[in-house]
Amino acid sequence: MSHGPSHDPLKSSMFFVYPEKVRDIFVLATRIAVLVCLVSSISFVLFIAFYPRSPYIRFKSVPYRDAGGDPHPTTTNISHVLFGIGGSAKTWNTRRVYSSLWWEPNTTRGVVWLDENPRNINDSNNEIYGPEYRVSSPDWTRFKFSSSRSAVRIARIIRDSFNQKLPNVRWFVMGDDDTVYFTENLVSVLAKYDHREMWYIGGNSESVEQDVMHAYGMAFGGGGFAVSYPLAEKLVSILDGCLDRYYYFYGSDQRIWACITEIGVPLVQHPGFHQFDIRGDPYGILAAHPIAPLVSFHHLDYVAPIFPDKTQTDSVKVLMGAYRADPPRILQQSFCYDINRKWSFLIAWGYTIQIYPLLLTPFHLQTPLQTFKTWRSWSNGPFTFNTRPPPPDPCQQPALYFLDRVDKVGVAGTQTSYKMAQADKKCNSTNHTNVMAVKRITVSSLKMPPDYWQKAPQRQCCEILDHGRIKDSSLRIRVRKCRQWENVGV
Ligand SMILES: *[C@@H]1O[C@H](CO)[C@@H](O)[C@H](O)[C@H]1NC(C)=O
Ligand SMILES: *[C@@H]1O[C@H](CO)[C@@H](O)[C@H](O)[C@H]1NC(C)=O
Ligand SMILES: *[C@@H]1O[C@H](CO)[C@@H](O)[C@H](O)[C@H]1NC(C)=O
Ligand SMILES: *[C@@H]1O[C@H](CO)[C@@H](O)[C@H](O)[C@H]1NC(C)=O
Ligand SMILES: *[C@@H]1O[C@H](CO)[C@@H](O)[C@H](O)[C@H]1NC(C)=O
Repeated sequence: MSHGPSHDPLKSSMFFVYPEKVRDIFVLATRIAVLVCLVSSISFVLFIAFYPRSPYIRFKSVPYRDAGGDPHPTTTNISHVLFGIGGSAKTWNTRRVYSSLWWEPNTTRGVVWLDENPRNINDSNNEIYGPEYRVSSPDWTRFKFSSSRSAVRIARIIRDSFNQKLPNVRWFVMGDDDTVYFTENLVSVLAKYDHREMWYIGGNSESVEQDVMHAYGMAFGGGGFAVSYPLAEKLVSILDGCLDRYYYFYGSDQRIWACITEIGVPLVQHPGFHQFDIRGDPYGILAAHPIAPLVSFHHLDYVAPIFPDKTQTDSVKVLMGAYRADPPRILQQSFCYDINRKWSFLIAWGYTIQIYPLLLTPFHLQTPLQTFKTWRSWSNGPFTFNTRPPPPDPCQQPALYFLDRVDKVGVAGTQTSYKMAQADKKCNSTNHTNVMAVKRITVSSLKMPPDYWQKAPQRQCCEILDHGRIKDSSLRIRVRKCRQWENVGV
């Protein structure tokens, strides 16, 4: 267009330079248009006349069909989740106790994938109801690897799971044979996301050294992670080609992350997934859970039992008892104060209570006590969250109480009771001795509604009942929604 004889930009347009030609073209174009219109109208009339149903059906967009084929999906529930558990024939006999703690026969769906058929499974152990096992599809041995061959097999569990082509699967949840899930909470997290889109949800490691060595943006497999159906479909289609590109990675979870990175889907980090890359006593983390539902635990064989004087398995059973009574509330913190006595209370519901013989701000109380070390180097940090050291002065240390019993109160309430643990260190100050006179604390609360975590998260408040009267060495507390103008702080 800029090649016309005139330098006037307007006039250099076709219209000004070649008016007759344009007219000819216009006339021709009009004729063609009339002809096209005529032909299409005739076709349309004929189409309507001979098409058996309304032609407009053809113009409806085709909705995404998940395995259930439902264009207006119902709320996600446990039936929509398919678990893929990475195990091995060698460890299954001892590890399967962990899946039995959370697995609900005839409700939970999924399989433990093993490298070969296990020998000497102890079937006389009737207490163990867990998922069934299956042997991974055999071609995994043909892939390149540098450090861990089984990582390839475990990365391909998502493929083996997908290829079962089971109906009504919205989410594939991958984890280890020592991952313990709190499935109601897992479902309430997943239900917030549209499973018809591509989602990758999980958590990274607590130990910064691990995140640096592997990746901050990857879901660590031990804490479990969720992949929505469409992402799983895409992932499975590229997986085998992708695995050889990342043969030098250590774990299966890092391979999956790298392949999802190629698709371009980021990790949605959720603070309820716990890889538990820590050593020592997990108490500090459990007593200061983020304001989010507890979804999973891992590495329970590597950390101290979460309840004193109990095995780890029995500990998890006790915690599960409270969880079943009020799933969204498990481990949730509340803080309250006895202003006259200058005492601070920290409640981690269903697990523990701490009473400090001094006034501490909520900011202080919500920071985990560092009772643990990093995973790899057993160092004092750094972690992906702040910690506070346990106070060295025994007179500033809290009295500790642990869950002792759980009772349902009617259909809507619970009462949990916490018993004092033996304190290791002695402090003779009267303030501390007065705290030690409280041997038991009972906490009453209404159950959190099932949609509690679908809304904006907020910590609940608590109040000390009976004006703080200690009766039979026992105190009563109520946990409830905070009132509109209530502020917790001292
Ligand atoms: C989950 O929802 C589906 C409908 O999408 C329903 O058929 C199924 O019974 C539900 N499962 C549970 C355990 O509620
Ligand atoms: C699971 O379902 C099967 C068949 O429906 C039944 O025989 C079995 O008792 C059920 N198991 C449990 C633990 O409910
Ligand atoms: C199998 O389990 C039963 C019941 O828990 C136990 O008594 C028995 O010692 C176990 N046998 C083996 C070989 O582990
Ligand atoms: C605390 O009490 C213990 C014995 O109960 C005693 O040995 C110790 O000296 C006391 N410490 C203080 C600071 O009073
Ligand atoms: C004990 O509590 C009182 C206030 O109730 C406080 O003035 C005093 O400093 C406390 N003593 C110790 C050792 O913490």
